[in-house]
Parts: sequence; structure tokens; C-alpha cells
Amino acid sequence: MTIKAVRGTRDLLPPETELWNRVEQTAREVFALYSFSEIRTPIFEDTQLFARGVGESTDVVTKEMYTWDDKARAQSEKGQSLTLRPENTAGVMRAYIEHKLWDRPGLQKLYYIGPQFRRERPAKGRFRQFYQIGAEVIGPPSAGSESPARDAEVLEMLVTLLKRFGIKDWTLVINSVGSPSSRPAYNEALQKALSGVVDRMCSDCQRRAVTNPLRVFDCKVPEDQPIIETLPRISGFLNEVDRKHFEEVQNILRATGVPFVINDRLVRGLDYYTRTAFEFTQGSLGAQNAILGGGRYDGLSEALGGPRAPGIGFAIGEDRFVMALAAGQERANFDSAPQAYIAPLGEGMNVPAAKLAQELRAAGVRVELGDESFRLKKSFETAEKLGITKVVIVGESEVASDQFAVKDLQNGEQEKVERRRLADRVHIPQQGADRGAS
Ligand code: HAM
Repeated sequence: MTIKAVRGTRDLLPPETELWNRVEQTAREVFALYSFSEIRTPIFEDTQLFARGVGESTDVVTKEMYTWDDKARAQSEKGQSLTLRPENTAGVMRAYIEHKLWDRPGLQKLYYIGPQFRRERPAKGRFRQFYQIGAEVIGPPSAGSESPARDAEVLEMLVTLLKRFGIKDWTLVINSVGSPSSRPAYNEALQKALSGVVDRMCSDCQRRAVTNPLRVFDCKVPEDQPIIETLPRISGFLNEVDRKHFEEVQNILRATGVPFVINDRLVRGLDYYTRTAFEFTQGSLGAQNAILGGGRYDGLSEALGGPRAPGIGFAIGEDRFVMALAAGQERANFDSAPQAYIAPLGEGMNVPAAKLAQELRAAGVRVELGDESFRLKKSFETAEKLGITKVVIVGESEVASDQFAVKDLQNGEQEKVERRRLADRVHIPQQGADRGAS
């Protein structure tokens, strides 16, 4: 029996991986423009981090985490419950606290790129191992971490990123989920409204109504939606400070030309959110149309035992981002097929061919190298199949004269090129993919 990739996981194969690399490279460039730096946190963490950070009653923590008991291997160690990270914000905040990053000047603007794990039902655009490109802005209030300018800047950066990729047909949906001071009154109103209807709702909602009524909005059961539609909205319970914050975010967005819609049912599925919450949806993606999501989490640091350190961030679902790009036929820009095929011709030619390949690669040419056992016809066929148009023939007379026959497979022409001119002759400038266009 052959072994297959586990349900909900997949292999990313070339040439698609080129697209992934390009997405990540461009994201890094945009992050640099906004002075973000990279952080890499472990892929597994203490389970408590997510229980306390993401929230005990969220779907992510109750149903979707990959958790196991890690047994002690030495007397000096303790056994521990560990979890594959379902998201990266909690890990970044743990690192912020653990390394006292508040001691560093200004705000911590950190980005990450990597796999996350959730045991969800696999579907188009929904995986059990998926990838996120995310960023977080965290710091003491004295550094401006609470300012609505941060929320608006993060959103404007995301629009820049989407534009760079030519992703169209996106919608930015925003809401304010209020701060802890506006929550108790809202929770009470929700609980009251739910008390008359909850026995007609799904079992998850019955649990949520008791443990954390806000989570009722995460319900996907179609029969529950008309009931959820009638529940009070957070927008009616925002305090003055939260309302002002939300208005100022909107003012800056308007001034910087970032279009948005407000949806006061958007609460997001993770407990740490406060005030601004947002999602970008994208038209080509179908049911899983949230291409990225994020928001403010002003109390997360304290919930994890840290000092006051408000923050805001987001995570792009990279799998969905790549799907949206492919749907927009942006793919052509991301090809990086080899530019030259070196065909060693006859016994003893592997050595000079290897040296020539080394030289051309050092000059920035993407090279594929054949073998001296191939006949010329086979070399041409192989190059053609790989999408390479220039074949450099390395035979005895070429080596002796230091002039190489270069065959152009597109027009069938062949010419002799001096060794020192070879790199320029076979190099085809390609958008964004090589030395010619960085
Ligand atoms: P999230 O909304 O849970 O937020 O995930 C962000 C994005 O990850 C989603 O919009 C979606 O594109 C992608 N995603 C989530 N689950 C899956 C899945 N199973 N398969 C494929 N893609 C998926 C967070 O994770 C927060 N940590 C974001 C954040 C950062 N908030 C503040 N800072």
C-alpha cells in the first residue's frame, strides 16, 4: 500500500512553488517599506498559550487543535501538553513577553511567514496545514500602540500588497468589537436575547450561550442564521472611547483612499480581539472567501501574564492568496524556467560542461545541465520539454576553440559564441524573476 499525504495536507510542487516564493518575497518587500522585521516562533507551543490567548470557548481551541501529551524524557524534564500552532499571534505575543521586547525602542513591528494547523473539515481553500503571512504591531501605549493611526496604517499596507499583486475584486469589511469595558453590557443583552431562542439553536450555540455568547456569531449552521440575525449588535454598545477610535480609523481610511464596508456582525473567531476587527474577502474564492483577517488585541499581553501592550495585526491565508492570484492569471509573471541548456557532446565532456555551467550560473544565468551520454537530438528534445530555448553545445572542438555553438530552438538558428560573451547571449531578461529585473 502506498502512503499518501495526510487528509487536509498537501505537497506544493513546482512550478506553483515559484508563485509561493514570489508572493513571500513581495510581501517581505512591502513589510520592509513599512518597517516591519521578521520573527520566527516555534511551530509547537505549550497548549495553555492557545487556551488562554485564543480563548477556551473558541472553535479553534475546542475542536481544531492538534494537541498531544509530550512525555518527559529525563528526570529533569516535566511532561507537558503541546499543540501545533493554529495561528501565530499568541506565539508572537509570548515571544514579546518572554524577551521583554517592550525594552526595545518604539513599537515592535513583526511579521511571520509559515505553516499553521487546524483540524477543520477540508474543502476548497480550507486545509489542515495551511500557511499564513502575518504581521503584528505591539508596544506600550506610550509608544502609540493604541492609536487608530496604527489600525489604518496596517489596513493601508494590506491594500498596497493586494495592489502589487494585481488582486482585484476584494472587499474590506471592518467592525469594532469594543473594549472589555463595553463587553459586559453587551454580553448581558446577548444572553438575555438568547435565553428565549437558544433551545431552537444547534448544540454548539447552546454551549456558547452559556460560556461565551459572542461566539454564537461564529455559527455556520444555516437554520440558526435567521435567529442570529435578530440578536443585538455590538455597535449599539460601544463606549465613547471605542466609538471615537473606530471613527478615526474610518477617517484615515477615507483620507488614504482605502475603500471599506462596515459589518457590525463581524466579530471574528478568536477571543483576543478588541475594537477594530477586519477581513478582506475576494470574489474568485467561492465559499472560503476570507483571504485575510485581523484586528486589535489590546488585552492579549495581560491575558498571557505580560505588561500592558496593545497590538494590532493580521494574517493572510497564503493558500487562498495564491489561489486568487492564479485565478487572476498573474501566474505568467512568476515563471522562472531555466534559460540555457548545456549539452555535453561525447565522452569526456561532462567535465568542461560542468565548468561552463558553473561559470554561467555565477553570472546569473539559470542553467540546466545534460549528460555526455545524450545524443544531440535527445538534448534538444529535453530542453524543449523544459521550455528552454537556448542550448549550448559543449563538444571537443568547442572546448579547444573556447567558442560554443548556441542553438536557438525557437528559430532553429545556430551561432558560435565566444566563452566570455555566452552569459549575455543566453540570458533572457524576465520580469521580476532574475538578475535583470530586481
Ligand atoms: P484567522 O482569521 O483565523 O486569523 O486566519 C487568518 C486567515 O488565515 C484567514 O482569513 C484565512 O485566509 C486563513 N485560514 C484560516 N484557516 C484556514 C484553513 N484551515 N485553511 C486555509 N486558510 C486558512 C488569525 O489567524 C489571526 N491570528 C490573525 C491576526 C493576526 N489577528 C491579529 N493578528
